[in-house]
Amino acid sequence: MLEKIPWPFTRLYDKYPNRIFVKWFKRIAENIKDRKISGNILDLGTGPGRLPIEIAKQIHSVQIFGIDLSEDMIKIARKNAEKEGVGDRIKFKVASAYNTGFENNSIDLVVSTGMIHHLKDPLLAFNEIYRILSDGGEAWLYDGRKDATKAEFEETVKSLGMEEDLPLPLQMMETIWPWMHVGCKSEVYRTGKIGRAIKESLFKNCCIREEGAYIQIKLRKYSRAA
Ligand SMILES: C[S@@+](CC[C@H](N)C(=O)[O-])C[C@H]1O[C@@H](n2cnc3c(N)ncnc32)[C@H](O)[C@@H]1O
Repeated sequence: MLEKIPWPFTRLYDKYPNRIFVKWFKRIAENIKDRKISGNILDLGTGPGRLPIEIAKQIHSVQIFGIDLSEDMIKIARKNAEKEGVGDRIKFKVASAYNTGFENNSIDLVVSTGMIHHLKDPLLAFNEIYRILSDGGEAWLYDGRKDATKAEFEETVKSLGMEEDLPLPLQMMETIWPWMHVGCKSEVYRTGKIGRAIKESLFKNCCIREEGAYIQIKLRKYSRAA
């Protein structure tokens, strides 16, 4: 699996499949709003920037950052944010999940969708996330699940109201989904390469759960005072 998505696949990814994930991003932004998270939010591996755009639209009191290894993805993200009228609310930059360039304890929430299965060295990335999170700060990391059943896939599509956004019939999407998520079986996140990296990382608090077609990993940097 390539880490950085190169041009022209960046352009293809922006048009499809990223656009069909917008309802999922809206749901994540709603969850952030419900939790009343404030301060600085960073999207790791932001791609075309649609998750930070949804966060900026829903929450006005936070500073939002998005980073990606790919220069072209960052160009696309800036353009998309401008188009959506939130260009001045999000700071995008080219940077790696291994070396984000943010100061220690400076980020209150790290989010990421569809990025961690790209990581060659997940341990390095988890420890970098730990370093930049504030005490008590959280990381919400999401990825697609190759081993989601057809029923789980359909339930996700329906519960997010994505039916009208699908470019192909639902049955075809169900068949394509596992191919889009090679290497993304749940066990990879629990006991495989990524699960082991979480256990070896500085994080002492981790919650992993399957959510329909997705896996969600929540990490928390406990306050020293707690
Ligand atoms: C499948 S895309 C997901 C993009 C977006 N988050 C989404 O959900 O649509 C994965 C993105 O992660 C980026 N990426 C992969 N490895 C990275 C790393 N080590 N540091 C920063 N970005 C990385 C890729 O360039 C790509 O844009």
